[in-house]
Amino acid sequence: MTKKDEFFNRAAAAEAHDDMPRSPQSGETIGDVILKRFNRRDLMRGAFGVAAATALFGPAVLKASAARAGDAPDRFDFKEIEAGVDTTHHVAEGYWCKPLLRWGDPLFPDSPEFDPLKQTAASQLKQFGYNNDYVAYFPIDGSSSHGLLCVNHEYTNEELMFPVLKERQDTTGFKEMTEELVNIEMAAHGVTIVEIVRDGLEWHVVRDSPYNRRISPLTPIGVDGPAAGDERLKTKADAVGREIVGTLNNCAGGSTPWGTYLTAEENFHAYFWTDQRDAECKPAQNLGGEQAASYARYGVPGLWQAWGKFHERFNVDKEPNEPNRFGWIVEIDPFDATSVPVKHTALGRFCHEGAETVLNKDGRVVVYCGDDTRGEYVYRFVSEGRYDPGDRKANMSLLSNGTLYVARFDADGTGRWLPLEFGAPFLTPEFGFRSQADVVIDARRAADVLGATRMDRPEDVQPNPVNGKVYINLTNNDKRKADQVDAANPRPENYFGHIIELAPSGGDHAADTFTWEILVRCGNPHPLWSGVDALWNPATSDNGWFACPDNSCVDDEGRLWVATDQGDNWARTGRADGLYGLETDGPRRRTSKMFFRVPVGAELCGPCFTPDRETLFLAVQHPGADGTESLYGFGQPSTYKKPATRWPDFREDRPPRPSVVTITKIGGGKIA
Ligand code: FEO
Ligand code: CA
Ligand code: CA
Repeated sequence: MTKKDEFFNRAAAAEAHDDMPRSPQSGETIGDVILKRFNRRDLMRGAFGVAAATALFGPAVLKASAARAGDAPDRFDFKEIEAGVDTTHHVAEGYWCKPLLRWGDPLFPDSPEFDPLKQTAASQLKQFGYNNDYVAYFPIDGSSSHGLLCVNHEYTNEELMFPVLKERQDTTGFKEMTEELVNIEMAAHGVTIVEIVRDGLEWHVVRDSPYNRRISPLTPIGVDGPAAGDERLKTKADAVGREIVGTLNNCAGGSTPWGTYLTAEENFHAYFWTDQRDAECKPAQNLGGEQAASYARYGVPGLWQAWGKFHERFNVDKEPNEPNRFGWIVEIDPFDATSVPVKHTALGRFCHEGAETVLNKDGRVVVYCGDDTRGEYVYRFVSEGRYDPGDRKANMSLLSNGTLYVARFDADGTGRWLPLEFGAPFLTPEFGFRSQADVVIDARRAADVLGATRMDRPEDVQPNPVNGKVYINLTNNDKRKADQVDAANPRPENYFGHIIELAPSGGDHAADTFTWEILVRCGNPHPLWSGVDALWNPATSDNGWFACPDNSCVDDEGRLWVATDQGDNWARTGRADGLYGLETDGPRRRTSKMFFRVPVGAELCGPCFTPDRETLFLAVQHPGADGTESLYGFGQPSTYKKPATRWPDFREDRPPRPSVVTITKIGGGKIA
């Protein structure tokens, strides 16, 4: 999201948001925090990063620690690739990487072939969407070579998509955007569901499959939970507040034990428009009261897209409640192409990054969610009902009722889940909450008054069913000031992010309390970069460390794989984004190895294994964006219109298309 993130910085609403008062800060120094967080147990395990460890123990101790880790077996059986920056992808030796689906690829028997010079909304709705993000694989009859692939399409880079545009539009007042281009953008958002079959090292799409489907901002979606039917969800087109049209900014997500797909609506505020953008009195001020507070807290209208110029419902002057209908978790049944997806409002409304589920030991389903904005929170939903392996239909209501919690991380390494329940102290009319509908619609405001911990952009929150822990990717926050650090977010100007490991009390994902510690502080651990204050196992090589953790997955052995999104931070780290195997247990805990690297300017999303771990699906998002202007064909207005002049070899691939790639092992077998 870097391009949009940049604009977010510039937008007045976003600036106001970023300057909002934060929860009281501890005021501790980093030194205080290190001493508090790295207790004797950590010292015994050699858990410090190179810089901190060198400072405190000297090189001899460090060498001994590295030797211990080096002697321990490496659980990731692949030869690490080299970190670096170039315009192509790289995968570990002995593996085969092939694009399976690229933006514009046909999905149905009557889909037009991709032609960047003849784009229409109608053709885009029959083709693979843009900027692929989360990926989930659903086996058919338990197979790891035949199944359904679900893929999110998060947003669009209009200057890379449309040859008719001369420049980025969001920074220039959308001067060149037409209704036709907006409609193509809308059609390029949403979700793709497609049947796929493995054939040797590669996979192919079954174009005439009855499962194939595109879901978009135009698809009818249902809604349940506390906000369904509430006044604040009603619009001119939907007098009952239960018939929402569309889903958008589908970022990460999850899959449920009963075989449904969860797609997370992230930067929904971005799509809303006002005709008063230059007026002194902004729409939020006009509205007054709680709606004004809500707009301000969520950065509505974000003005990142021109949709509201042509579609009234995205103009908050015309339809002030429409923003309340986005920012939810949506459940989709991929096995029924006629099913109506459902927005589950019980899981709260915010910039949802993902929705990873775990089946708790008591049969309740727990969903972990991050709110990916600087200074926002980590959430957890616990279902009221229990999973029944024999009743899929009943399971599909499990996310309709339950309790939403927000996390508070205390400096002593413990933490507490704070329930967001109407009627509890502070969640009352006196504080602007008239019902549970208000609490979930304004989950951020509810979390504010409960004193949750403001985090450094929570992305994927990944439970590990093998070791019972939960891994929270905090991608970065370069706006955190020195007097705003806390134990869980210990670095000011945090350019490189960190990962927190959370252990539910008693191994119970529904427990009120947990313990936590920082697994890694990302960035370069070399002593020359001691100012970065990175934390890795010293066994991590110069190629293995990473920055800006975004998505992750856990494989069948309980090993953590982390995908990165540095935005234009690749220029600071000297490495394009990629996929890393990260050890979480044993003497090699905190050791990271690089497995895959994307073309520069892309972020890596998705990581998803088939159940047999013989195929890995990865989503390469927005190659050619993020500060790559000086590179051949990258970061520039689309060059599709100049195939015969400047870059004759690259008619289709400059800029490269966002794509989902498959990785298999040459000669067969499990990955790593
Ligand atoms: Fe869409 Fe938070 O990444
Ligand atoms: Ca993400
Ligand atoms: Ca994940």
